Amino acid sequence: MIHGKARNVIITGTGHAVPTRVLSNFDLEKMVDTSDEWIRTRTGILRRRVADEHTATSDLAAQAGRLALKDAGVSPEELDLIIVATITPDMLFPSTSCLVQKNLEAWGAACYDLSAGCSGLIYGLDMAVHSIASGAYQRALVIGADCISKVLNFQDRSTCVLFGDGAGACLLEAADQAGVLASRLGADGRGWDKLLLRGGGSRHPASPATLAAGWHYIEMCGNDVFKFAVRIMVEASLQVLADAGLQPEDIDLFIPHQANIRIIESAAQRLNLTEDQVYVNLDEYGNTSAASIGIALDEAVRSGRIKGGDRVLLVGFGAGLTWGAMIIEWVEKA
Ligand code: ACO
Repeated sequence: MIHGKARNVIITGTGHAVPTRVLSNFDLEKMVDTSDEWIRTRTGILRRRVADEHTATSDLAAQAGRLALKDAGVSPEELDLIIVATITPDMLFPSTSCLVQKNLEAWGAACYDLSAGCSGLIYGLDMAVHSIASGAYQRALVIGADCISKVLNFQDRSTCVLFGDGAGACLLEAADQAGVLASRLGADGRGWDKLLLRGGGSRHPASPATLAAGWHYIEMCGNDVFKFAVRIMVEASLQVLADAGLQPEDIDLFIPHQANIRIIESAAQRLNLTEDQVYVNLDEYGNTSAASIGIALDEAVRSGRIKGGDRVLLVGFGAGLTWGAMIIEWVEKA
């Protein structure tokens, strides 16, 4: 049972959704001054999925959410909380979670979005765990979803090769079994300008000047984010391992945020994890931001990489700067 938690909480369903359109490194070679070789060796990414002009974040989020509900055998009316973690909401307001609620017809649910970049899914899971553990809510749908392609400058090779679109969802319910063993979130707002989308908010409302400056696109200090990511993934992982009274060798599957294979390998090495303990799918999807851990978790469960009793360590970092880590003892569906 995690600190301050009155009831145990388990994930009873997972789902994910990605657009059908594939954008390969070779496609990018034709759009910007880059090469498959550079992208592959510097990041591990081979291809990513990109949403078409008719698809927005709430569409992928609802699709993933519906699959998680189906997986859990829970109907939308039984939901009392929907949290969508995203940095690419359909619009500034209303929240993307309200649009998901409308799509799912989950009329009994309270809805809110949260912005924690690529740590978003873990932030959402942590919030849902505490909301359910307190007894205030029974069933929560947490979705990490982003269409980062919509805010990428496809002439900026330092960002446009890294990201893809998608959504990953988890259905959480109270339970007698172990479930979530430990969870930690953190943030350092001093790093706010390391990864940002400057325009369109109350600081720099959208205007011809912000458009001309390209402030509707992602800006990133890649090297600074890289160094932060390696350090914080290790620190946050060690913290939740200590909270749960576990060692790295007790972890059956490590699911890190899928940003760069070099970040993942470096963190795994410092944690003394073997290759079979680490889940990687960034070659297929690139960095899908808040969706990445949810997509990986759903794939791992559905492919049998995660079985009942397994201990799974999730860890992410992202814009803010933010981070989060969680250890789950997986409970097989009855
Ligand atoms: N193709 C070819 N060359 C490129 C490309 C590209 N796509 N991008 C950069 N380069 C060049 C640079 O111009 C530079 O050339 P120069 O030496 O002539 O100046 C050279 O490659 C090396 O550039 P670096 O930025 O030093 O490359 P690095 O090895 O650090 O990799 C990368 C850059 C991949 C961005 C890395 O720093 C990284 O992965 N950082 C973390 C990013 C991240 O995780 N962001 C997501 C955060 S999560 C969220 O909340 C959304």
